[in-house]
Amino acid sequence: MRVMLLGSGGREHALAWCFSKSPQCERLLCLPGNPGIAVLENCTCVEGSAEDLESVLRSVREQRPDLVVVGPEAPLVAGLADRLLDAGVTVLGPTRAGAQLEGSKAFAKEIMRESGIPTAAFESFADAAAARSFLQAHPGRWVVKADGLAAGKGVFPCDGVSEAVAAVSRLMEERAFGVAGARVVIEEYLEGEEASCIALTDGSHVVMLPFSQDHKRALDGDRGPNTGGMGAYSPAPVADEALAQLVRQQVFSPLLSALRRRGIEYRGFLYAGLMITQGAPRVLEFNVRLGDPETQALLPRLESDLLPLVYAAATGTLAGANLACSPRASVCVVLASRGYPGPYEKGLPITGLQSAQALPDTFVFHAGTRRERGQWLTAGGRVLGVTALGDDIPAAVAAAYRAVAAIEFSGKTYRRDIAHRALRR
Ligand SMILES: Nc1ncnc2c1ncn2[C@@H]1O[C@H](COP(=O)(O)OP(=O)(O)O)[C@@H](O)[C@H]1O
Ligand SMILES: [Mg+2]
Repeated sequence: MRVMLLGSGGREHALAWCFSKSPQCERLLCLPGNPGIAVLENCTCVEGSAEDLESVLRSVREQRPDLVVVGPEAPLVAGLADRLLDAGVTVLGPTRAGAQLEGSKAFAKEIMRESGIPTAAFESFADAAAARSFLQAHPGRWVVKADGLAAGKGVFPCDGVSEAVAAVSRLMEERAFGVAGARVVIEEYLEGEEASCIALTDGSHVVMLPFSQDHKRALDGDRGPNTGGMGAYSPAPVADEALAQLVRQQVFSPLLSALRRRGIEYRGFLYAGLMITQGAPRVLEFNVRLGDPETQALLPRLESDLLPLVYAAATGTLAGANLACSPRASVCVVLASRGYPGPYEKGLPITGLQSAQALPDTFVFHAGTRRERGQWLTAGGRVLGVTALGDDIPAAVAAAYRAVAAIEFSGKTYRRDIAHRALRR
């Protein structure tokens, strides 16, 4: 089949790598893709932007793919899947209504409350004065969240009333994230260990990927500003088969039923960000797509061909499907430009990509690179995702850092403690 993949990051490189080696993939078109994707067999990068709905529709009319897979959330929240479905195109990724699970935290919380999905207690507010009175009447530890998309920057864990009130003002009155802060969710602060559980679904049936954990903060020890993710690993030692069953029964099943009651048939990847406390999962948030570093860690562990499963999810035929996965561990370390997530320099030569890739069980995914006269250059804040498999987490960590050491560019920045929680166990 002809597959079109939308997006341009490391997540999309991992997906493209997975699809391009599928015997069912005749041709892979990536819009816009990236230079790392462009060198994959069977793969062509198509000009345009995944965020520009009109350009996507134009390319789809020209290229006539049998399946479109949407990587990032923004076009889904903007209604890209609806437009493609209207045009008779098979698409993996929820409609605008389903994408509200990520596009509106208040919507996600309401649906969780309604269907008894374990999550932090919460209230949502469209009025700053009402949010402030609530906080003053209920002193405690709260997390204040912008309702809408805020690129991972709209969540404020607060230590007391004054911090929480300040967060409300910043989001609702100063509009630090624009309309995303028109509404806020104020929720109970949860203790525990975080893990991600990603499922593939056709709206009724669920295939769960293994658990993973990521590192959002820029600096070692989980300090510094939030980023798009500095690394991830899988499996997550905090999660076992019993937890997977709980998540299936307590989260994915009731969620899909609640969506179907609203007339939403959710077809796509569905990401549950969980807080695990004494073996019990509570949902922190849903994302309507794969996580970026998580995907780069997860996909190398898959033994099944992902493409037929993705096609089955997109066509509502996922019943009975299974995903075989290697018991080996996987670790992804993100190499960033110095300064990321703030301003950084671009155009710096990268060396050692070939020797890193030649290491056993090692995968180098591109996120921000450029190729000029045969030379690889940096072209973004997130430059590469370096993944390695190993028999256990310590072995995978060692292998990933061996590959990291083989790659050089001026300002190469990365965390040296990826998987520290798993290593401590
Ligand atoms: N109720 C909560 N209790 C404790 N920490 C939380 C809570 N909600 C979110 N967090 C922390 O904030 C991070 C970001 O929140 P999340 O809801 O995932 O939003 P987003 O990914 O959109 O920024 C989480 O990964 C978690 O570390
Ligand atoms: Mg999150």
